[in-house]
Amino acid sequence: MKTDDLREAYLSFFESKGCVRRPSDVLVPHGDPTVLFTPAGMNQFKNQFLGVGPIEFTKATTCQKCIRTGDIGNVGVTAYHHTFFEMLGNFSFGDYFKREAIHWAWEFLTGKKWLGLDPTRLTVTVYLDDDEASNIWNKEIGVPVERISRCDEYENFWPAGAPTDGPDGVCGPCSEIYYHTPGAPKPVEIWNLVFTQFNRVGAPPNNLKPLPKNNIDTGMGLERTASVLQGVITNFEIDTLKPIVLAAAETVGQKYELEGPSGRPLRRIADHVRACTMCIHEGVQPGPSKQGYIVRQLLRRALLEGYLLGKKDPFLSQVVPMVVEMMKRPYPDLVASQEIVQNVIREEEKQFLGVIDRALPKYERLAQKAGKGGTISGKEAHDLHSQEGFLIELIEAMAARDEVKVDRKGFEACVRDHEIRSGSGAFADSVMAEGPIDAIRKAIGKSEFLGYSDETGTGKVAGIIAEGKLVNDFAEIDSAAPIGVVLDRTPFYGEIGGQVGDTGKLEAKSFVLDVTDTQRDGDLVVHIGRLKSGKITVGDEASAVIDAERRAGIRRAHSATHILHHALQTVLGPNAMQRGSKVEDDVLRFDFAHKQAMTPAEVIAVEREINARIADGATVKTDVVDIKTARERGAKALFGEKYPDLVRMVSMGDFSLELCGGTHLSNTGQVGLTRVISEEPVAAGVRRIVAYTGEKAIESVRDQDNLIKQLQQQLRAGLPSELPAKVTQLQDELREVKQELSEYTKQSVGIESQKLLAAAEIVNGVKVICRKLEKITRDQLRAYVDELRGKGGSVALLLAAVIDDKVALIAAVTKDVQAKVKASDSIREAAKVVGGGGGGRPDLAEAGGKDPTKIDAALEAALATYRKALAE
Ligand code: SER
Repeated sequence: MKTDDLREAYLSFFESKGCVRRPSDVLVPHGDPTVLFTPAGMNQFKNQFLGVGPIEFTKATTCQKCIRTGDIGNVGVTAYHHTFFEMLGNFSFGDYFKREAIHWAWEFLTGKKWLGLDPTRLTVTVYLDDDEASNIWNKEIGVPVERISRCDEYENFWPAGAPTDGPDGVCGPCSEIYYHTPGAPKPVEIWNLVFTQFNRVGAPPNNLKPLPKNNIDTGMGLERTASVLQGVITNFEIDTLKPIVLAAAETVGQKYELEGPSGRPLRRIADHVRACTMCIHEGVQPGPSKQGYIVRQLLRRALLEGYLLGKKDPFLSQVVPMVVEMMKRPYPDLVASQEIVQNVIREEEKQFLGVIDRALPKYERLAQKAGKGGTISGKEAHDLHSQEGFLIELIEAMAARDEVKVDRKGFEACVRDHEIRSGSGAFADSVMAEGPIDAIRKAIGKSEFLGYSDETGTGKVAGIIAEGKLVNDFAEIDSAAPIGVVLDRTPFYGEIGGQVGDTGKLEAKSFVLDVTDTQRDGDLVVHIGRLKSGKITVGDEASAVIDAERRAGIRRAHSATHILHHALQTVLGPNAMQRGSKVEDDVLRFDFAHKQAMTPAEVIAVEREINARIADGATVKTDVVDIKTARERGAKALFGEKYPDLVRMVSMGDFSLELCGGTHLSNTGQVGLTRVISEEPVAAGVRRIVAYTGEKAIESVRDQDNLIKQLQQQLRAGLPSELPAKVTQLQDELREVKQELSEYTKQSVGIESQKLLAAAEIVNGVKVICRKLEKITRDQLRAYVDELRGKGGSVALLLAAVIDDKVALIAAVTKDVQAKVKASDSIREAAKVVGGGGGGRPDLAEAGGKDPTKIDAALEAALATYRKALAE
């Protein structure tokens, strides 16, 4: 059975059992700061498991895109580990439980109509005391007891080890199903049925509280089960992965053999390129932190594998088309972003190849110094990581290969130290802390948003978060850290989809709060700000008033963003797709896919198209429709954006249709004016336009007018059109003056040099000149040296000057003197004195120094060097 068919069979089997087929969540889940990437199918259903929010369905089934990096060291080594993988799952939120979950799993695995696996090749495990599950397997399904094993909480509980080690929250015993492929060394776990029946609260004992309703969360590894069905002994041999491994082999120029020396590296490359393609497609760019760091790490690991196989130029991007080919059936959008993904990867590869060339010899020196069984210190690893970009994970991977240890603790200490010194690092945003927000969500579900139609409204204070904790009241005026306030209803827009959060005031009888930002956590809106007077208490009725003028500017910028998107596709073609945006008060920033810089003519054409659509005064309409209808009508949507079943569709005239949750104008004419301020690159294949709207656009025209008027006055130009000619005239004059000056300098250097030669001390027939020159440029200093060396006969000299508050030294000796003393000899001595360094050739040397007050002493040192050497 093909992998694509397995996915479909699973989803339709569970649909036939009444489960609602839900789409996969995106890889970077929104509003879930507890994970970097979606790790399992259950992640998108956390609220349903907790019983929070409205109940739309109680049974679901999905195929979820997942990334887990905990096992990264095993990728390519074992038969079944990946970073990116797909997890098939069926879920129950207080609906069916153990009996159905087990019966259905068995039916799907062994039923002739479904997978038809041989039941005698299946074994199962249950949690130590889960007699209920064991009995269902044995008595109802007929699995003999010798093929049912009982395992501890680290094997058969989810999350693993939860009763003893946590985390707090929903958890439960699980039952795993294994298949033994003929010829394979050991059975493989293909399915995990989790019986989510407890809420863990605190440390043992008695910390597992039964949930009000029992839940089911199952996860079946798509790739693993496909390998079983296809009778292959590693996941990398299945129909959707083998071609990627082979494509990697071809681009690297190696033959792929399962057990061959290039087997592991090629499997790793295939895995990592697949993971990165999926991430970059969703808008993650390789970068220094969070998801971006993981993508960078994966790309670098993959590239290093190729490099060590002898492939010294970029190759990863060439593997991307095969990934897209293999993954496009379930994820058809990948086709449209293939080129963008390739560009991003290629750029990162180019950057890192330079790093490898520099850093690999350094690493090798360190590994050699440590020796087999020895340790690379934390400081050494940190230098390689932070100065050379050779990430710690790469150092560890290489060290493991060379049987050298890395002091990871020491490394982490260096990172922390560096972060403290540079003021950077990951600071948790206390206002958005996870715990208190969850509690508020439990109480009110969501904040009702009034702000599409209203700019004021009243709501009840549902929660107050101060310093990361939920408090009942708060009375500190102008507290150092802002507090977060959640209302049950509010017109404030919480930042999302590129649109910034609103600012304004919350006012009640008992308090006034200045709102300086508004953020969202899922469906909750958090007003962030400081108390101006009184005391705020949960339950207070407050009137919420947003800064209406600022909001009007945001509306203009947001509507203009849609018009810009349309204009770009009109002028540059349909590939100019949105990659990101930021919408503020009359300012917008729009990132889109485009390979090269736009020409000035294209920028003008885009600006013209936008303003023509503004002048149309087209109606802006918002409809709430189901996502299927929206897609059928061709509404523009973002890759990697998770849309609910009902979406807002914003249309403008007949030229723009986008899925968007933002706030908009009612007519395009209200934008007034849009001016493109800049067009620049942001990443490989991605350009950014910054534009102003409304009053700001007009102001920017006015500012330019004023600038031109000022220039006209300064340059005495009657008309603005005379300005270029005036500037050319000035440039010509300046050129002439510079030429004259250089003539004059030459002459004066000549005259002054003669004076220096005349005053020189003569040691053994050599003129020795060690002098400080005043008010001089570096070029002039060099001109002196040329003059003195050229016209003075036998000369040994060192000149010093103060340039930009630093000491500049230059030394020279003529050829006949070099046998006795070199320019580098005297400069070394002089540089030492002024606290600097430098060097050069025997005949000419330059150096710098920090301390101008020591110049005289430096000249003395140079003179002494010359005297001593020449006297011999
Ligand atoms: N959440 C469980 C797992 O990841 C089952 O889906 O294994």
